[in-house]
Amino acid sequence: MKTTLFAALIAGALAFPAVTNASEGPKLPAQKWSFDGPTGHFDRAQMKRGWQVFKSVCAACHSAHQLYYRNLVELGFSEAEAKQIAAGDNVPAGPNEAGETHVDGQPIMRPAQPSDKIAPPYANPAAARAANNGALPPDLSLITKARKGGADYVHAILTGYKEPPAGFQLQAGMNYNEYFAGHQIAMPAPLVEGAITFEDGTNATVDQMAKDVSAFLTWAAEPELEERKRMGIKILAFLLVFTALLFALKRRIWSDVH
Ligand code: HEC
Repeated sequence: MKTTLFAALIAGALAFPAVTNASEGPKLPAQKWSFDGPTGHFDRAQMKRGWQVFKSVCAACHSAHQLYYRNLVELGFSEAEAKQIAAGDNVPAGPNEAGETHVDGQPIMRPAQPSDKIAPPYANPAAARAANNGALPPDLSLITKARKGGADYVHAILTGYKEPPAGFQLQAGMNYNEYFAGHQIAMPAPLVEGAITFEDGTNATVDQMAKDVSAFLTWAAEPELEERKRMGIKILAFLLVFTALLFALKRRIWSDVH
C-alpha cells in the first residue's frame, strides 16, 4: 500500500511538467548543456564564444543591464582584457566626470571602465522601438529565467526561423518563427552562418552560435549556478553520512532490547 502510494506520488511529480508543457506552444527541442544536472558547470570556452556572439550580434539591439564589464573576468577573461573590452564602448559621463555633462541636450560620452554596466545600444525604450519597427528588444540579462525553457527557448527562437506555412498571414516587417508565441516576431533572424569568426577557431554555424549565446545568457541570469550546485552536492553528501551515523546509532542503542 505504502509503496504504491509512493510510486504514484513520484509518477505524478514526474508527469506534472510534461502536462503543463503540453498545453503551451510547440515543444522546444531539448539541448545538452554543460550546466545541466547536479554536477553542472559552465564551459569557459563556450562562455567566451557566447560573449563574442552577444557582443558582435545581439548587443546591436539588446541591452544586458545586469552585467558589468568586470563580470567578464568570471568567464575567464583577464582583468586587462575586461578593461580593454570596456574601453571599446562609450557610456555617458556622470556629473562629476566631465564638468559639463550635456551639450545641446546630448550626454557627453567617455570610454567605459570595468566598473560600468555593459553599454546599452539605445538611450531609451522609445529609441529602441523607433529603430525596431515599433517592437522593443527586451533586456537579455534575465531572459533565460524569464522564459519557460530557459536556454532551450533562446536556442529554439534563434534557430526557429522558417518560411511561413501556406495561408499564414504575416504582417509587414514581421518574421515567421516556429517557437515564438503567435509565430510572428519583430526580430529578424539575427544569426547567419559564418557571420563571426570565433577566436578559438570553432566553426560558427547558426546552431553553434545559438548554443553558445544561450549558454552565455544562462550564466548572465544565474552566475551563482555552479556554487549552488556544488553546495547541493555537499549537503547531499552530508545528509547521507548523517543518515548512516543515525542508523548505526539506532542499532547500537536498541541492540539490548531486541
Ligand atoms: C536587429 C535587432 C536585433 C538583433 C540583432 C537581435 N534581436 Fe532579439 N529581438 C529584437 C526585437 C525587436 C525583439 C522583440 C520581438 C517581438 O516582440 O516581436 C527581440 C526579441 C528577442 C527575444 C525574446 C523573445 C521573447 O520571448 O520575447 C530573444 C530571446 C532575443 N531577441 C534574443 C536575441 C539574441 C540572443 C540575439 C543575438 C544572437 C538577438 N536577439 C539579436 C531585435 C533584435
